[in-house]
Amino acid sequence: MTRLRRMLVWISGASAGLGAALAATMPFDDVELIDLSRRGGTPGAHHVAVDLADPNSWPVVEADFNRRMDDFDGDMVVFIHNAGTLTPLGPAGRVDTIDTDMQAQLRACADDLFPEAHRFRELDALGLLAKPEDVARTIWSLLYREIPNGSVLHIRDII
Ligand SMILES: NC(=O)c1ccc[n+]([C@@H]2O[C@H](COP(=O)([O-])OP(=O)(O)OC[C@H]3O[C@@H](n4cnc5c(N)ncnc54)[C@H](OP(=O)(O)O)[C@@H]3O)[C@@H](O)[C@H]2O)c1
Repeated sequence: MTRLRRMLVWISGASAGLGAALAATMPFDDVELIDLSRRGGTPGAHHVAVDLADPNSWPVVEADFNRRMDDFDGDMVVFIHNAGTLTPLGPAGRVDTIDTDMQAQLRACADDLFPEAHRFRELDALGLLAKPEDVARTIWSLLYREIPNGSVLHIRDII
């Protein structure tokens, strides 16, 4: 009989950026990790290929969630909805490995399209942008903190 994993973790958008950093820094050994994204390729993750911008993909996520939950009798289930895109604002100016695709896109934006672009360019030039891995570790640390259900936290206040 197959031994059940003790943790079940879904991350949407684990194929790149912060989602990939969350997968790489996951502080658990006994975990079944599922990446919900178009590209996949995350080491150690089961890839469920979905385009979350297409509502037709949502039942696929629901079915995967229900199937794995039905078989699971472990200790903890985590669902991180991280996937996001800026594609309508314009192309990425450049891609860096400290960095995420989304950050490059933000800095490439014209200021009139995204007023914060200037601030992001300044932070990048000064080397003050948080590394995805550091942000990811901070997010995982939330599991061990006493936080009221429903709290809204900003990463810059806890990193
Ligand atoms: N970067 C920042 O400065 C920043 C700041 C605050 C909050 N955030 C938030 O952090 C999250 C991750 O950002 P990031 O910087 O890591 O972005 P990123 O490097 O561009 O990565 C985006 C991830 O989302 C997935 N994704 C995008 N569109 C998708 C779709 N239609 N269906 C399925 N998956 C999709 C991508 O996977 P595929 O392409 O393989 O589908 C990729 O794994 C976002 O929710 C963003 O709003 C970022």
